[in-house]
Amino acid sequence: MMSDAALDALLLPLNQRLLAAAPDTLFLRAREGASLHARLQRDSLHCVQPFKPWANALERAGFDVAAEESAGRIFGQTWLLPPRQREEARALIARAFDACAPGGVVLVSVPNDEGAKSIEGDFRKLVGGLDGGLSKFHCRVFWARRDDARLDGGLWAQWRNADAPRPILDGRFISRPGVFAWNRVDAGSALLAEQLPDNLRGAAADLGAGWGFLSDALLSRNPGITSLDAFEADARALDLARQNLAPHAGRCDIAYHWHDVTTGLPAGHKFDVIISNPPFHDTGKVAQPEIGKRFLHVAADALAPSGSMWLVANAHLPYESLLAERFNDVHVVTAARGYKVFEARGAKR
Ligand SMILES: C[S@@+](CC[C@H](N)C(=O)[O-])C[C@H]1O[C@@H](n2cnc3c(N)ncnc32)[C@H](O)[C@@H]1O
Repeated sequence: MMSDAALDALLLPLNQRLLAAAPDTLFLRAREGASLHARLQRDSLHCVQPFKPWANALERAGFDVAAEESAGRIFGQTWLLPPRQREEARALIARAFDACAPGGVVLVSVPNDEGAKSIEGDFRKLVGGLDGGLSKFHCRVFWARRDDARLDGGLWAQWRNADAPRPILDGRFISRPGVFAWNRVDAGSALLAEQLPDNLRGAAADLGAGWGFLSDALLSRNPGITSLDAFEADARALDLARQNLAPHAGRCDIAYHWHDVTTGLPAGHKFDVIISNPPFHDTGKVAQPEIGKRFLHVAADALAPSGSMWLVANAHLPYESLLAERFNDVHVVTAARGYKVFEARGAKR
């Protein structure tokens, strides 16, 4: 289990009895960790986590977890580990108060180097002041009771929808703050899309499909693709992919999987074409090329004998020896703008 300073800090006011626990608590962007295990009343905690690897970890540890909040349900207390993206963080703060009973506490923890100052500033602005705060483990922890007379109603209404889905790229796609490259085409994905041929056929998969840009490029250019399985860990992004790929649904079977690709693909899936711009972070800042490498292994395991994988990666990432290890035929299609596009065939078992 990795140490998680923001989670440890979040629970301090409760462990130090500065705050009393509530009989039922909503935990937004919940993460599993040793300090959470130490809390006895597990049944009273309802966790929300849209990132599948973290939702899986909570589930394995026996916590109740969902990908999104259930609208209208009210809790005695709300905890929040906000994401870095500011509009998304504001929306979560507003919705934390929506879900908290009047008089109940909203409790937030943010690492100092992940925007603690600005998120605390936003929180104060909405609430009209704090009921408590502390600094520990390089994090800021702060809280306030829900007092509707004190909350800024205008901001509350505005921030509730600050991360709402909206048209991007001249209305061609729908996206929302907080998902990967939310309001632009990622430069690596753009390069791969430019290089995709137009004669790909059969069953396809997109590993880490995001809001659907690469899948759309594949389907737009390749009428021979008969089905697409979009695998994505971020439930918010996957919902957007569902909307963005809807125009292709008439001619191609599309399945959407809220799935952690590093765990392998569901048994029985074999693909003629796999496309991917693999992640090399979880949701943090630190590069973790092991995640991308795992994607390559999973792709090699799921590729049909005559299938091809089309991959883009930052040129500096250490994928080439692994590609040579897992595929008989690897070809650098292009190297440009700091990225490499690979076509790999002949997956080795
Ligand atoms: C580099 S982005 C590419 C997104 C999209 N294909 C595009 O081209 O814009 C990688 C994607 O992988 C997703 N991801 C990260 N970890 C994952 C995992 N373990 N399993 C599945 N998807 C994951 C991220 O949420 C992100 O959407």
